Amino acid sequence: MPILGLNLNPEFISVCNNATWAIGEIAMQMEMQPYVGVVLPNLVEIINRPNTPKTLLENTAITIGRLGYACPQEVAPQLQQFIRPWCTSLRNIRDDEEKDSAFRGICVMIGVNPAGVVQDFIFFRDAVASWVNPKDDLRDMFYKVRASSSGVPSLFPSFHTQ
Ligand SMILES: *[C@@H]1O[C@H](CO)[C@@H](O)[C@H](O)[C@H]1NC(C)=O
Repeated sequence: MPILGLNLNPEFISVCNNATWAIGEIAMQMEMQPYVGVVLPNLVEIINRPNTPKTLLENTAITIGRLGYACPQEVAPQLQQFIRPWCTSLRNIRDDEEKDSAFRGICVMIGVNPAGVVQDFIFFRDAVASWVNPKDDLRDMFYKVRASSSGVPSLFPSFHTQ
């Protein structure tokens, strides 16, 4: 994991993409808590960097989401540092398993640190609206986030249904 962290250098796009992807895959399988500090600062910097290529942005957003799903207590305190570019990176990708795991992670993190999303809630709403057909339990997570953010009513659109 420290070696993957060292390879999160956006000057080398292909290596960086692959290291990012690998971290996200490993986060779904392994205890990541000891390594959050080794990889998260670089991921947050990359997602906030101007001119980061689109594919790397999407990849980074997915990996941050997966890391947050695995270690919400460690990642959620940083929510405000990445939520806006996270949302804009993922609002144009089509429904798939990677997007599913990333959004589960962001919902869990918002549960831990709702204050981290308040300022950018409108961006989160747009990202959620990009879902055509979320799985039922993910849809439930979206409704819970909306309910827990009841200070900002009617910001959510309804999803498309089958
Ligand atoms: C990144 O991964 C792809 C797909 O596995 C591979 O073709 C490519 O060579 C890798 N890039 C580097 C720099 O290792």
